[in-house]
Amino acid sequence: MSSYIRALRMVNFRNYADATVLLAPGLNVLVGGNAQGKTNLLEAIAFAVTGSTPRTANDQEVVGWGADFARAEMRVSLDEDEERKVAVGYAPGQKKRLTVDGAPASSLNAYAAGGAGVRVVTFFPDDIRVIKGAPSDRREFLDALLSSLRPSYARAVAEYAKAVQQRNQLLRRIRDGFSSERTLSTWDRKVVDLGTQVLEGRTAAVGPLGSLFEDAVTALYGPEKAALLYSYSAPLDGYSEALREARSADVERGTTSVGPHRDDFAVLFGGISMTTYGSQGQQRLATLALKFAAREYLREETGQDPLLLFDDVMSELDERRRGYLSEYFLGSTQAVISTTNLEYFADEVLERARVVHISGGAIRTATSDGVGSGIVERKPLK
Ligand SMILES: Nc1ncnc2c1ncn2[C@@H]1O[C@H](COP(=O)(O)OP(=O)(O)OP(=O)(O)O)[C@@H](O)[C@H]1O
Ligand SMILES: [Mg+2]
Repeated sequence: MSSYIRALRMVNFRNYADATVLLAPGLNVLVGGNAQGKTNLLEAIAFAVTGSTPRTANDQEVVGWGADFARAEMRVSLDEDEERKVAVGYAPGQKKRLTVDGAPASSLNAYAAGGAGVRVVTFFPDDIRVIKGAPSDRREFLDALLSSLRPSYARAVAEYAKAVQQRNQLLRRIRDGFSSERTLSTWDRKVVDLGTQVLEGRTAAVGPLGSLFEDAVTALYGPEKAALLYSYSAPLDGYSEALREARSADVERGTTSVGPHRDDFAVLFGGISMTTYGSQGQQRLATLALKFAAREYLREETGQDPLLLFDDVMSELDERRRGYLSEYFLGSTQAVISTTNLEYFADEVLERARVVHISGGAIRTATSDGVGSGIVERKPLK
């Protein structure tokens, strides 16, 4: 059986002062009214698993108001009865503290690529921008997925972005007469070297991801033939030539016009771009299908089923699709799903799920007969 999370403790994390939630394998439903802490809890799980929040680029936002640090700790059940304890601590202005069984993680990239013993696929309502947003939103989706597999990919992406920035600065100096064009060759080699690593990673992934996406769309949406189509601004095998050919135009503009930072992928239903023509519902289903494809891809690549953290996914779906999703979650190693309304789940689904009630940053887990234990758990993790 794949790894899953047994317990999560949040300290000064958003609206949780100190709360512990016990999670079960299979489906966990977080239920509560608006603004009680459902999304914050899903975010805390992602924070503990990846070392970063998927909701914002500014870590400071997760620190509880009035507190000077935030921490998320987890107990993870690994294969063969083994357990791992991990913690992510963050204090503004300080280096993040990531520990695995008490020992510091070697790097954030290494921690994010499975250091916690589990991986996650998240769905937040705002993720629809992967479909309807800018090319950068789609590149970010791909890069995050591949980074969760390999720390070397995450490193290549970060170093490539830096190299492009430096090349751009040099292009402007050349344009303004402060540098000669000869100095560009060294940077071009570096850019091509790092960019190739990024392109190779993406090229290997988009094929399998595309067919998994097609399957997911068929299951979720209907027989419409779906596809992902990656578009290269420079082909992998003609990359350095393309960069050289673009040189004078790049100098004039002061930016690098080809390479993986300018690529995109099209999301197609029946040959039609969902980015340009998708209805709200189609764009939402396409987003979900991409997440399902990401899950299958991670499973194929790692042999482990990643955890599903899906925020308020039921509310905009029709009943048939809600039923499909319930079964999908029940069949996963672990899914944590938030909702304001338990009626989105059939009774026989809830009987097989753990229901966690959330109110005002406190947690109450229903027992199997549906009656809340009434205990607000504030005990530290053992
Ligand atoms: N850093 C923070 N410190 C304290 N409280 C915070 C912090 N960030 C957000 N909050 C508050 O936490 C509360 C719960 O937010 P959350 O997004 O988890 O709600 P929710 O249960 O998902 O609600 P909804 O159903 O409306 O999506 C909100 O009132 C929010 O303002
Ligand atoms: Mg929410």
